[in-house]
Amino acid sequence: MKFSLKPRPLNPGGSECRIVFIQDKKPLISGDSDLEAQISAQIKKTGFSGDFAQTPVFSILGKTNPEELILTGLGPRKHFRMEYLERAAAAALRAGKKAGVKVLAVSADAPPAGVSETDFVHAVARGAAWGNYGFNLFKTGRKKRDHELSVVFTGPFKNSAACRNALTRAELESSALLATADLANTPANEATPQKISDWAKKTAKENGLGFSSLNKAELKKKNCNALLAVAAGSAQDAKIITLEYKGPNPKSRPVVLIGKTITFDSGGISLKPGKGMNWMQYDKCGGMAVLAVMQMVAQLKPETSVIGMLAVAENMPGGSAARPGDIIKSHAGKTIEILNTDAEGRLILADALSLAQQHNPSAMVDIATLTGAVITALGHTAAAVLGNDPDLNRSLIRAGAAAGERFWEMPLWPEHTDDMNGTFADLQNIGRSDGAKTSTAAAFLASFVPETIPWAHLDIAGTAWEETSKPWMDPGATLFGARTLIEWINGL
Ligand code: BES
Ligand code: MN
Ligand code: ZN
Repeated sequence: MKFSLKPRPLNPGGSECRIVFIQDKKPLISGDSDLEAQISAQIKKTGFSGDFAQTPVFSILGKTNPEELILTGLGPRKHFRMEYLERAAAAALRAGKKAGVKVLAVSADAPPAGVSETDFVHAVARGAAWGNYGFNLFKTGRKKRDHELSVVFTGPFKNSAACRNALTRAELESSALLATADLANTPANEATPQKISDWAKKTAKENGLGFSSLNKAELKKKNCNALLAVAAGSAQDAKIITLEYKGPNPKSRPVVLIGKTITFDSGGISLKPGKGMNWMQYDKCGGMAVLAVMQMVAQLKPETSVIGMLAVAENMPGGSAARPGDIIKSHAGKTIEILNTDAEGRLILADALSLAQQHNPSAMVDIATLTGAVITALGHTAAAVLGNDPDLNRSLIRAGAAAGERFWEMPLWPEHTDDMNGTFADLQNIGRSDGAKTSTAAAFLASFVPETIPWAHLDIAGTAWEETSKPWMDPGATLFGARTLIEWINGL
């Protein structure tokens, strides 16, 4: 897809199809009362609610020719969030594509209240790029990607250089998101730990990032037995993949991002029921978000050094699989009773969080599809953030709001920590009581992080995947978290 900026306002009656955002049932348009009146009349006539991501396409009588228009709803102003704008743009693009439109035009001079011109261009461009994505790797006879579509932002701009920057940023981020979405959506028979490692290696090389990948023998040597226990039932060996971006200041301590990358979560010996299992290729989405962010930092070159680590394994039952009751000794030296092999994410993250400390991080953020309980608590609307540093939690929530991803803080209390004390070992991998499973999972992780390192845990189990088609995307990986993390890193 091609993006461009045109400083002059859109020519009425041109060949472009104009995207118009609708808020509180009113079109966001400046300086064209004729058009505004026509759209308002249409809204009344059709009963279009202007609800978020609703997108009727129609044409009206322009000054010279009929004008093609796509209205796209932002919902009411009092509930406005950046994700509504980004998704409305994606939905508009999808509607336009379906209608066979080639050139879409967005006027940048009337953003929703509270959104700057540059943030508007950035969110709309990134949304449009995302709307153009389709996972077609396994559809025979389908052409790969549509390059014909183009989106033009029309002025007048207050600051066209800043808008150009915002657009470039959106394009770089989108290319990372779209490329990584193909891997995230690839099922477990194809996206094996080895293939993910190969993919990461190639991407690291293309982007000038440092790369390393620990294999089974090396992980054994380092006593990463929690990670190895998870992979023990699988024919696929575990990996720890590390990607490294060095910021301009060589002495600065890096931020370390750690992604849960379970290529398939069957539950292991604590087998999941069939219905809960058929989309568990999604369990690698934390790692996929980290992969996307690393491509973004390689291109956007922030001040801070960033290290991305993927803890990769496939959780399968089998003759050599870990059994409920098994006790293993983690890389950190703590012993763990594996009481439920389906609580595997925290096991692989425990070793990764311990290994990460060798980089002397200024902060660590892990991101994981960790608990079904976070879906019970927050549904598919927001991800949970927990950790050992309230300021870090807050700055991630703030970055999420700006990036169009919602986070909600959940507690991590001493009671949650106590709940994870083992009977025969230091720790057990599920709680003694039955509740607060998102918090107890985080408490388990916290025992592998020293108090001196600010650390946050993002539980994206409810937000990493769309199970059904939405106006802004087909079913599949959302790469939730990547947009927030790049926003957060840029602000450091
Ligand atoms: N990857 C799952 C979390 C999950 C479960 C995501 C259901 C989406 C839907 C994780 O590995 C898991 O199985 N967690 C268990 C933990 C439990 C055994 C303590 C869960 O949440 O049920
Ligand atoms: Mn599991
Ligand atoms: Zn899992």
